[in-house]
Amino acid sequence: MSEATKATNIVWHPGNVNREDRQRILGHRAATMWFTGLSGSGKSTVAVALEKALWDRGIVSYILDGDNIRHGLNKDLGFSPEDRTENIRRIGEVANLFTDAGVMNLTAFISPYRADRDKVRALMQPGDFIEVYVDCPIETCEKRDVKGLYAKAREGKIPEFTGISAPYETPTNPEIVLKTGDLSLEQSVATLLSYLETNGYLKKA
Ligand code: ADX
Repeated sequence: MSEATKATNIVWHPGNVNREDRQRILGHRAATMWFTGLSGSGKSTVAVALEKALWDRGIVSYILDGDNIRHGLNKDLGFSPEDRTENIRRIGEVANLFTDAGVMNLTAFISPYRADRDKVRALMQPGDFIEVYVDCPIETCEKRDVKGLYAKAREGKIPEFTGISAPYETPTNPEIVLKTGDLSLEQSVATLLSYLETNGYLKKA
């Protein structure tokens, strides 16, 4: 799908309330924490635990999760390289909107292509895109096989499965690396909270 704007004669309509206004009411900064990693690496598990920890601190966050979004907005997309690119392009745009809405946005998508992730980064303002590489060895993901998909992929029942028959390009310069094979869930959440705290994301806007 082309990324150029197809429509002509469209004019941006500004509002009277902006992101800073929304952040002031919410009392914290907005950003997108972009979790990327293999299936079964722990992206959704960590995002869900972080969402609760943030909520307990009065931070409004929202999770955009690959499996969930593929039930609705992106139900027309499969797992070919083109469809994955379109999946990430759309989520990048949605993440940008959520960030503008003042929300701490947590996205959990394999997002296997570096170029696709970098495009999302480029779309957002500096500091709004926090890339979290959920770095878990494929052997561990496969051993966990929470959804039974690795076994199916090994049997050849799932084509283009990330890590088995489709590539995963590791981030070159992520803001955070989470070694979920070594860390407990609590330690992963603490690492993320500490990054947000240290970098001023949890301060009153
Ligand atoms: S992405 O590559 O386009 O970013 P996304 O995160 O939306 O993927 O979806 C990945 C989820 O879809 C996996 O966690 C898994 O449950 C499921 N899935 C089904 N088929 C595949 C496949 N071929 N490769 C990877 N994940 C798959």
